[in-house]
Amino acid sequence: MTHAEAIIETRGVSKQFGGFTALKDVSVAIRPRVLTSIIGPNGAGKSTYFNLLSGAFSPSHGRLFFEGRDITGLKPHEFAHIGIAKSFQITNLFPNFTALQNVRIALQAQVSRYGLWRRRSALTALADEAATLLDTVGLADRAGRLARELAHGQQRALEIAVALAAHPKLLLMDEPTAGMSPEETKTMMTLIRKLVGERTVVLVEHKMKMVMGISERIVVLHHGELIAEGTPDDIRANDMVKRVYLGQREH
Ligand SMILES: Nc1ncnc2c1ncn2[C@@H]1O[C@H](COP(=O)(O)OP(=O)(O)O)[C@@H](O)[C@H]1O
Ligand SMILES: [Mg+2]
Repeated sequence: MTHAEAIIETRGVSKQFGGFTALKDVSVAIRPRVLTSIIGPNGAGKSTYFNLLSGAFSPSHGRLFFEGRDITGLKPHEFAHIGIAKSFQITNLFPNFTALQNVRIALQAQVSRYGLWRRRSALTALADEAATLLDTVGLADRAGRLARELAHGQQRALEIAVALAAHPKLLLMDEPTAGMSPEETKTMMTLIRKLVGERTVVLVEHKMKMVMGISERIVVLHHGELIAEGTPDDIRANDMVKRVYLGQREH
């Protein structure tokens, strides 16, 4: 893949917290419209890398490119404007509004940005799109429920619908199945799979087994360094990855 083909790319990126190096010289180019998973044991630097991709952190060294454009140092809200969204900020949900209202509010924020909100046709389109987004995430039958009344897995699905309202080109998710029951986990993995294709999805996950079946590309971090990158088959066969995951309880 050439530089221009990557949707997002980090070049020689490092992140220091005081004297501690959480990420060291990580160069990765992420392909558009595929599902890439970032894996690694706890403390590997996954969430730090996620925060760099989403714009929450700026790198201490190195550069970040989005569709070939250098975006190093842009503000978090500028990351959102260029099409990078992250899911699972539970604070994004309004607990006392319904599922449908939560998505409508997110869509409304988009529409007002473009000054279209007064037009009746825009409002109708908005209502339709909110319903469509709820349907996409499997919450069509929960539209009228208050967000706070939804089950944990459903709240997370609603978070995704809210993130999708911004029409992101790149959707980032950090351990989307954390705290979920096996049943909720299965539903969420199926949903994530469905989201890929129309957009790029990057998933951070520490359980390797979870992402092997659904990812097209896998990036492995360990002690802040990139130790492997490739297809799930490449990663399964990689000796370094096997060593790192050996002795881990959950993989
Ligand atoms: N804000 C921070 N300040 C200091 N150290 C941090 C901070 N965030 C993460 N770290 C450290 O960086 C390392 C990587 O953390 P993290 O990216 O959260 O790993 P992972 O998500 O793979 O479990 C850990 O040792 C963690 O303690
Ligand atoms: Mg983490």
